[in-house]
Amino acid sequence: MRATAKASANIAFIKYWGKRNADLRIPMNNSISMNLSNVYAQTSVEFNKNLTRDVVTIDGETLKDKENKRVIKHLDRVRKIAGNKLKAKVISNNNFPKGTGVASSASGFAALTCAVTKALELSLSEKELSILARLGSGSACRSIPDGFVEWKAGRTSKGSYAHSLYPPKYWDIRDIVVIVGEKEKKVSSTKGHSVSGSSLFFDTRLSKMREKVKEIKKAMKDRDFSKLGEIIEAEAINMHAVMMTSKPALFYWLPETVEIINSIIKWREQGLELYFTLDAGPNVHVICLGKNVARVKRYLSSVKGVKRIIVNKPSVGARLIG
Ligand code: PMV
Repeated sequence: MRATAKASANIAFIKYWGKRNADLRIPMNNSISMNLSNVYAQTSVEFNKNLTRDVVTIDGETLKDKENKRVIKHLDRVRKIAGNKLKAKVISNNNFPKGTGVASSASGFAALTCAVTKALELSLSEKELSILARLGSGSACRSIPDGFVEWKAGRTSKGSYAHSLYPPKYWDIRDIVVIVGEKEKKVSSTKGHSVSGSSLFFDTRLSKMREKVKEIKKAMKDRDFSKLGEIIEAEAINMHAVMMTSKPALFYWLPETVEIINSIIKWREQGLELYFTLDAGPNVHVICLGKNVARVKRYLSSVKGVKRIIVNKPSVGARLIG
């Protein structure tokens, strides 16, 4: 009763910010993302009759309190489906810093869902895995299918899941994650989602979502990179405007974040085609075409405050390994 799975983090082109149902993690709007080849979690699970309690270790640290409860709640969900009461040992490792806007909960809960269901000998469809992963962490449902992904918001738990729009090889797009801060964020995205509706701009944002999703899907279908980049960038600014104007106001950016954003705009004016997006953290995701990676990397290395960069191609979704 042992299994190991690997799942990538994903970057949202159209964001999930605000929930229709907080307990079930049903979002207010559809979102669109790309799985990232170089930021991932690898999770092993073992159910054993000699264990008297669940033990969860992430990046070498045994989890406590809230985080531990959240993982155990997820184990309970799967135990309930499988009709099994055995306790588990969970060991998970990320290859990137936790809680810095690189969506560690997405890769973590996607890998956990795959490993736990396999270890408990359940055979679930991709859709069922996506629904289950979503209950652990919303954006985790998008790390289950391959490549470029859409999460259909739905109105019920069964109707809220992600599916693949295109496989990873469809488009040679890169997401260069620029790490400027490695500290865990002060306000979790779970808390952020819950206050999103307090922003004056939230309803306006939502009213444009359907159209925006339609537009980005067309840009993806046409492989129109300029259109895609324009939508992605405006969407990230839109979400952060909601964050900054909610009560309490949430500022996830650092001075270095703004420095990089300004540099990207400058380089674009000089003829290098690149765009930015950000999740709930200070790190900037630079979106460009594969042919421009070397140049973008060179440019980025000249900006002060850049701690590290991680170049990602589009990736497959969660997989069992070993
Ligand atoms: O799944 P959560 O609760 O970590 O929320 C993710 C929220 C954003 O990363 C900011 C946007 C998104 O769609 O991934």
